[in-house]
Amino acid sequence: SKSYSVTLIPGDGIGPEIISVAKDVLVLTGCLEGIKYEFNEVLMGGAALDATGVPLPDLTLSTAKQSHAVLLGAVGGYKWDNNPKSLKPETGLLQLRKELGVFANLRPATVYPPLVDASTLKTHVAHGVDLMLIRELTGGIYFGQPRGFGTYENGEEFAFNTEIYATHEIDRIAHFAFKIAQKRRGKLCSIDKANVLEASMLWRKRFLAIAQEYPDVELSHMYVDNASMQLIRDPKQFDTVVTNNIFGDILSDEASMVTGSIGMLPSASLADLGPGVFEPIHGSAPDIAGQDKANPFATVLSAAMLLRYGLGEEKAAERIENAVLDTLNRGFRTVDIYSPGTKLVGCKQLGEEIMKSVESNVPAS
Ligand code: NAD
Ligand code: IPM
Ligand code: MN
Repeated sequence: SKSYSVTLIPGDGIGPEIISVAKDVLVLTGCLEGIKYEFNEVLMGGAALDATGVPLPDLTLSTAKQSHAVLLGAVGGYKWDNNPKSLKPETGLLQLRKELGVFANLRPATVYPPLVDASTLKTHVAHGVDLMLIRELTGGIYFGQPRGFGTYENGEEFAFNTEIYATHEIDRIAHFAFKIAQKRRGKLCSIDKANVLEASMLWRKRFLAIAQEYPDVELSHMYVDNASMQLIRDPKQFDTVVTNNIFGDILSDEASMVTGSIGMLPSASLADLGPGVFEPIHGSAPDIAGQDKANPFATVLSAAMLLRYGLGEEKAAERIENAVLDTLNRGFRTVDIYSPGTKLVGCKQLGEEIMKSVESNVPAS
């Protein structure tokens, strides 16, 4: 049978609780589909700072680079919030993404029929939403130089960042997005702020140029302020959406609520070559950490994306996705997606129910 090496990074807060569930689901699915794993668990974020003094130890990076895929929980917490930038848990995550070159971040927002009541939007608005948000992940204001702090002559402090995109960075995410749109419903909406920002003006110009190579995809453009409104006015207007690093960060949290909870959205971060990083879009949720309240679906669905995009194991990926839907159809909910008439369970028990659904392998309805 096939064997893959997977780097596990539980991280901080709820990270260990959700990774434990996702790992169990991967192992069971592997047993049933003829896939073996060699797991290597390593430290990142606050856990790594406490143990080694840095947020991304060399061992973590080299382990990740040598593996087929990385499954990540989340990093960060109150304890490290006032650390200097280079010693923040989040800096470790950004370094990992940059080092692995995972420039393309897929964040699918799907409203599952049994969860339509959990959406904060009206049923007819939320029902049937199925969009793919593609976020550029290794450029823009997150990494732009110059950046930093300074002091004016009068003693006043200032701080600054740079939103910057080179043509090659825009072109590669554009080609990636057009190819994803081709495999979906053929509609691509590029979100920018080209009425104000030069970086967005070049972004829009390159998307228009590259569109010539994809005549089967219908390209549209939208300003980010309008897009954030349209996303809750009529989310079904969107098929594939592509945007820069920071707009994608913000819009994906917003899109998650359309589906019922931030605890439902997985992600895949992919490079041209080498391992991808698979993680929920949410953070370490320190407010509920250690209480067995976390929703593990986003991480379990990230494990499915790991199988599909990281290992090319489509059948195993579908088995997990079908199990998620089956668990929801059988009524099991964590508190963030609970509604009257459903069964409230903790993270651990939800994991056990997902495993039963993996085992029974009910096809998607
Ligand atoms: P967050 O996503 O951690 O939490 C926001 C809210 O959503 C909280 O009320 C939390 O309890 C809830 N929530 C999040 N995930 C949930 C889940 N799976 N189930 C149920 N409820 C869930 O965002 P935040 O509070 O702004 O950030 C907390 C920490 O996480 C910060 O240190 C931040 O930097 C970090 N963070 C890390 C990542 C990552 O590692 N990829 C992503 C976002 C934030
Ligand atoms: C995310 C997170 C990260 C980001 C932080 C923790 C660096 O919010 O993955 O969405 O901003 O990319
Ligand atoms: Mn985010």
